[in-house]
This record gives sequence, C-alpha cells and structure tokens, in this order.
Amino acid sequence: MPSAASRHWPATSFGATGADVTEPRGRFVTIEGGEGAGKTTQARLLVSALERCGIPVRATREPGGSPGGEAIRRLLLEGEGGRWDAVCETLLLLAARRDHLTRLIAPALAQGVWVVSDRFSDSTLAYQGYGRGVRLDRLAALQRFVVGDFTPDLTLVLDLPVEAGLARAAARSAADRFERLDRDFHERMRQGFRKIAADNAGRCVLIDACDDPQAVHGAVVAAIEERLGAKLTGG
Ligand SMILES: Nc1ncnc2c1ncn2[C@@H]1O[C@H](COP(=O)(O)OP(=O)(O)OP(=O)(O)O)[C@@H](O)[C@H]1O
Ligand SMILES: [Mg+2]
Repeated sequence: MPSAASRHWPATSFGATGADVTEPRGRFVTIEGGEGAGKTTQARLLVSALERCGIPVRATREPGGSPGGEAIRRLLLEGEGGRWDAVCETLLLLAARRDHLTRLIAPALAQGVWVVSDRFSDSTLAYQGYGRGVRLDRLAALQRFVVGDFTPDLTLVLDLPVEAGLARAAARSAADRFERLDRDFHERMRQGFRKIAADNAGRCVLIDACDDPQAVHGAVVAAIEERLGAKLTGG
C-alpha cells in the first residue's frame, strides 16, 4: 500500500483545486459491496465511531458527493433501464468521480480530515466491468486518466449472498435502475468484488455482512484499528 507521502498527484490535474497535499493528511476509507450489503448503514456507524473519538471526518458517497457529482448521480439512477449503454454509464461515473475527488475528497484529506465514502472506484470495476462487461483493461486505463494513482487507504468490501442483499434493498425502498438488473448480473458483481478484495489484499478487507449491523460494525472497527492504526475501542 503506498504511503500518503509516496502518492503522486498529477500536478496539472489537481493543481487547480487548491488542495495542499502535505502531511498531516486524513485517511480515505471506502465501503464497497453489492446492493443491500449494508454500505450506507456501516458508513454511518463508522462515521459516528470516528466522531466519538474526536477524529475529524467527512461522510460522502458515490456516485455523488460534490454538487457536480450529485447532478450526475441523478442522471445515472433515474429513468429507464436502457437509458445509458455500459460505456456512457462508465464515462458518467468517472466524470462524477473526478469532480468528487478534486472538489471534496482531496481538499478534505489535505486538511487532515478523514473521508468515508459509500462506494468508490471498485464499484465501477464490479458493476461496469464484471457486471456489464466493459473490458477491465480499458476501465483501468480510464480510471488512471481520471484519478492518477490515487487509491483509498482502506477499502471495506461487504460480502453478502445476492438474494439476501436484494431482499434487504427491496424491504427498504422501490428498486432503482441498478437494483432492477437480473440476478446473474448481481452474482457476477459479487464475485467481482470478492476478486477485487483478493487481488488488492493490502488495501482491502473482505467483511462478512450477513450478521446484524452491530456485529458487522465490530468487524469494520477491527479492520480500521488493524490497518490504519487508529484506536476506536477500549480505554
Ligand atoms: N447487517 C444487517 N442486517 C440486516 N439488515 C441490515 C443490515 N445492514 C443493513 N440492513 C438493512 O438493509 C437495508 C439495506 O441496507 P443499506 O441501505 O445500508 O445497504 P446498501 O449496501 O447501502 O444498499 P444500496 O446498495 O442499495 O445502497 C436497510 O433497510 C438496512 O436497514
Ligand atoms: Mg446505500
């Protein structure tokens, strides 16, 4: 895992944001996983736990986060299933990510604020790559164009059988454009997330999300303490 100091930010790309990339720097934690895995629930619990410990933290999400990102989110989630082909969808997601990173994430980290994002780059790989069949090498090249070699400090991949996740999501609200995709799609995505976690073991922790929310939160806290050295429990 690259240290904060060894990360290279493309000067021409990020210079205009005014983000001062010097230490001390906040930590960037992303929460990933399929529909209904509990990402939003766990992001909230984690942000509360960090706040209780006096760690400055900003909660955010993808697609979205920044005003421009949220505008693109509406384009992505609303409308007919076939509204965007996989390539258009990918490019919209990446435009939203670029805006989110330059306007919200990078400035917050530079000010020493932790950022917890409900989804980030791995969702694009899982949904558009493993799920919708966009070539993984092309996705990797596009991601690099958009974010340089910026990566989260820690990614928590919540893993849950597809049926259980869709049942949770269905019980919560009407299905959005992604939740309406077929079961095979969601299975490919789940396996994609598991492969991403295995291929990036230095950055990712795969977390069993079947248990109740507090138990899953316990695993999240353990991962934060072990990987990032923050103390969130005990005296
Ligand atoms: N560990 C859990 N056990 C049972 N129910 C849960 C658990 N975690 C979350 N839920 C419930 O399941 C539903 C989906 O959870 P949540 O919205 O956190 O998932 P999500 O991964 O953010 O979903 P989406 O991919 O749709 O954004 C919510 O109603 C939530 O209260
Ligand atoms: Mg959610």
